[in-house]
Amino acid sequence: GKKIAIVTSGGDAPGMNAAIRGVFRSTKRRDPDHEIILFNNGFRGLAGRLEASMDVDVQRRELRDILNRGGTCIGTGRVPELLPADPDAPDAEERREAREAFLDVAAVNLYQLEVSGLVVIGGDGSYRGAHAIAEAYRAKFGRSLKVVGIPATIDNDIYGTDYTIGYDTAVGNTVDALRKIRDTVESHRRAVILEVMGNASGWLALSAGIAAGASTILIPEIAETYDPRAVVGRCVAALEGDYRYFIIVMAEGVKKASGDERYGEHLAKYIAQSERIHEVLGHPMSVRNNVIGHLARGGPPSAFDNILAARFARGAVKVVLGETELPDGVDDVAMSLRGRQVVPMPLGEVVGHGPRLVSRDDELFAISQDLT
Ligand code: F6P
Repeated sequence: GKKIAIVTSGGDAPGMNAAIRGVFRSTKRRDPDHEIILFNNGFRGLAGRLEASMDVDVQRRELRDILNRGGTCIGTGRVPELLPADPDAPDAEERREAREAFLDVAAVNLYQLEVSGLVVIGGDGSYRGAHAIAEAYRAKFGRSLKVVGIPATIDNDIYGTDYTIGYDTAVGNTVDALRKIRDTVESHRRAVILEVMGNASGWLALSAGIAAGASTILIPEIAETYDPRAVVGRCVAALEGDYRYFIIVMAEGVKKASGDERYGEHLAKYIAQSERIHEVLGHPMSVRNNVIGHLARGGPPSAFDNILAARFARGAVKVVLGETELPDGVDDVAMSLRGRQVVPMPLGEVVGHGPRLVSRDDELFAISQDLT
């Protein structure tokens, strides 16, 4: 059939709406007869009772005024059943069956609707779901469905793409927050810890910290960045260098990496009780904790994110409509920005690599070492 279905999945990201709109317009421009279907609330919408969970043959006016809004106008969601079950878990068999049942309904729905291409806008977890749906479809119907991933997550942690939709906006929001924090923290000669999202990666923390001139940036990938003694050493150096404040940007993943879910509070205490800092200041350091959390994920998307979304959307439509040829045997891909080009990469390859994490060799990490 001449039908393209769109789903947004996982954590919402500013710019997802621009991607939806982009897929709609880039499709209609090429073939006005092609129909667009929108599934609501992530993969649940596509594996549920369809009449309640989708919009068929969407018209242009239905997508009016979505471009400059954050979030996703069709809703999103996380589907724990879709995650591959841990084979050692006591309920592994039940979970495997639940996952297969979910995938089966999704594949049947897509088949019955005669969808020719499914565009999944989301992050790493969503890509896994998308890849599993493509596999389930092929296994069940003996032919392939084109499934195209568009990378959208504020974490910027998808393998193979330089940028994901939403990251730039979240960095901007975090920089705004850091500028505000600096005003108050500087007035008090304080230290402050701002915990930011990013899942297991430190990209958001690194970029925002560099852009706003944070005193130090703690990321889960590199243990020495969050060693409390090293943090105090950096704080002493800052105070001796006549700085009135010490701003710590901490990626949320540090909590898991350090094995301490209350790492932020414990670090604050450690700094407050540091004798070395006491000596420099003449009194103990006052420290405060802040968590920006979802505030970084909302609000209007940046121009960069909206443009990136339009590029990925156009690339995805070209794949679904066959304008971009895929290598033999590949029918599910992820659109990726590599340098200046948007290219499709096999979804299986992207999923196989797992999330993209910061390494010591990354330029951004090296910059953070130079500047903080
Ligand atoms: O993946 C995006 C993200 O914002 C992560 O940075 C964060 O760990 C997670 O989602 C939060 O998820 P939720 O919105 O479900 O609390």
